[in-house]
Amino acid sequence: MINLITNKEDIQKMRIVGKISARVLEFIHPYIQPGISTEEIDNICHDYITKNMRAFPACLNYHGFPKSICTSINDVICHGIPNKYDILKDKDIINVDVAVFKDGFYSDTSKMFFVGKPNKNSEFLCKVAQLSLYLAIKLIKPGLRLRSIGKTIQEFVEKNHFSVVKEYCGHGIGRSLHEDPPILHYDTDDKGIKLKKGMIFTIEPMVNSGSSKSKLMKDGWTVKTIDESLSAQYEHTVLVTEDGCEVLTLREEESFLQEL
Ligand code: MF3
Ligand code: CO
Ligand code: CO
Repeated sequence: MINLITNKEDIQKMRIVGKISARVLEFIHPYIQPGISTEEIDNICHDYITKNMRAFPACLNYHGFPKSICTSINDVICHGIPNKYDILKDKDIINVDVAVFKDGFYSDTSKMFFVGKPNKNSEFLCKVAQLSLYLAIKLIKPGLRLRSIGKTIQEFVEKNHFSVVKEYCGHGIGRSLHEDPPILHYDTDDKGIKLKKGMIFTIEPMVNSGSSKSKLMKDGWTVKTIDESLSAQYEHTVLVTEDGCEVLTLREEESFLQEL
């Protein structure tokens, strides 16, 4: 079943919780420096979400996940667990994935950060991942078939000689963190459902510089590329509106996106 969120009060609550997770990514930016551990990043985000925003970090205890955010460095595709041994170093790339719960509703967003000055290849990989998300967002409106999202992302990524991870996908979101429908980031022969006003879901393409294949680490969470190639991911929570969509987790630096 696909839940629609159409009443004003609930949409307002989704806007608030969306803004909070976007704010977390803005707040953490200056801390992403060589020498900081992913555990310290987690602590800072945890305190900001709970104390400043009076909200709850939705990853914490989610199916037993032990930390408040996911931190995925270099060849980690997603679900990296913050810990005191992973210390950021110059030229690393890191995805910080933040999911927040407040007043009955969830939001979920992530972006890449560069540690020090990135090398050209990592920068380009991240750019392609980000643009693939933006291209998909620009398509969203009532009547669009779900298949178009995955097709657009995969074609763009592969045109740039990178690959799309297929084992993990976006998801409906609202009164729970993960709901139907799954949002695939690649093409299939199923045209998929038609989008309706009031649907809320994430789009979160994971883009690898080498093989698209992933492997799950022994900790039961961390997902890495099979060939140790770099991986980049960007994620937004979007609401389907009358004639397009509203990016509920939009950051200040992305305000152009809502105007396009
Ligand atoms: N934020 C992740 C997502 O994009 C969910 C992480 S679940 C966790 O769906 F338990 F790993 F935190
Ligand atoms: Co998500
Ligand atoms: Co997420």
